[in-house]
Amino acid sequence: MLNPSFLDDEKLPEAERVSVLKEVFHRNIRLKQIQRLAGLLAPVVGGTLPANLLIYGASGTGKSVTCLHFLETLKTMCSTKDVPLRYFYVDLTTPRTCFGAFNELAIALDGSTRRYRKGIALEHMQEKIIAALGAIEGFCCILIDEADNITTDSDIFLTFLAKTLPKRVPVRIFYVFLTNRIEWEKNLDPRILSVLKKQDMIFEPYDAMDLIEILRLRVEKALDVKKVEETAIRKIAAYASRETGDARKAVELLAKAVKVAEETTGLLSEAEVDSAEHSLEVDKTEELIASLAVQQRLALQACYTGLRHQKGKLSTGAAYEWYRRVCEDEGAQALTQRRFSDMVSFMDLYGLLNARVASKGRYGKTREISSSLPQKLVKSMLVSQDT
Ligand SMILES: Nc1ncnc2c1ncn2[C@@H]1O[C@H](COP(=O)(O)OP(=O)(O)O)[C@@H](O)[C@H]1O
Ligand SMILES: [Mg+2]
Repeated sequence: MLNPSFLDDEKLPEAERVSVLKEVFHRNIRLKQIQRLAGLLAPVVGGTLPANLLIYGASGTGKSVTCLHFLETLKTMCSTKDVPLRYFYVDLTTPRTCFGAFNELAIALDGSTRRYRKGIALEHMQEKIIAALGAIEGFCCILIDEADNITTDSDIFLTFLAKTLPKRVPVRIFYVFLTNRIEWEKNLDPRILSVLKKQDMIFEPYDAMDLIEILRLRVEKALDVKKVEETAIRKIAAYASRETGDARKAVELLAKAVKVAEETTGLLSEAEVDSAEHSLEVDKTEELIASLAVQQRLALQACYTGLRHQKGKLSTGAAYEWYRRVCEDEGAQALTQRRFSDMVSFMDLYGLLNARVASKGRYGKTREISSSLPQKLVKSMLVSQDT
């Protein structure tokens, strides 16, 4: 691999990410959105405060990267006109409480990575924010990424942004809010909304062709193109667009496939993509299993223990017996057969096993449980049970 950071820009710190994006961000594919952004925000170059903006789009449609790239460009344009413009990126991509959101804003403004301690009064944090912004002049854009991710008292945070902050500092602020949820604004207090949102725009999902272009550019920058087959790129794009057109997934799959290729043939072809897709799938299933409640995990282990002994298929009744045994071994209280049955349906729904209804003629219906997990996963799950 020539330059691995071009494959996982999201894990980089913001400054580094911006510089990596200069190389791998495919602006042509978001031209329409960039033009719209320019139309809405360009007044700042002439010294006029732009309206606040709310941007919607599913995950992986390039909202964050496009806005970061655009604001960086806008900053440069402003500086050639001697208009002072700063922008700040507030990262709410991980859900935060109201306190946590203030925390993110504060560290975005003071440029540190040090978080404030829990237990500090909200007012104190607000004063810090006001002080930080009080020290700058001209214009400032605050980009709030995944603004819908505030889990408690989001009104307090948003009211502070909309009403308090602009009154308390000389710098002229405009906001860009990003959200993955189209219904977000419906939950907002209309009075806050009327201040915060003046314009909105949408990022549509990428199609397979867009994804191919995005991937190609990255391959050129990060890899030795001679070792990457065109069909592999197409396959990755096909996988990603089959789901939701999520560029993040496409890039993730590319990175994984590169890893597979490096460990094996040294060549990235369709086979490596398939195997990477499979292993990402396994990773996700492992995560899902790890997140199960204790009883669910026991039930799952019981089904697979039963399946190991009774090669192939298991009736729910037999599975329940295995479950009781597993509970006994683990010193856990077994739930009723009904509850067990519900857990089986749940796991069927999540693809952790198959539970198909099979007719038993005049004896009525029963469900037949069979495996839906790769052998490797089953093994590691049953091993962890033994220990
Ligand atoms: N136009 C693009 N060019 C290059 N890479 C892109 C593009 N759009 C998205 N990506 C990739 O997909 C990832 C997710 O994009 P992001 O902007 O964070 O999506 P969103 O914020 O809409 O969820 C980015 O980190 C980047 O790797
Ligand atoms: Mg994002």
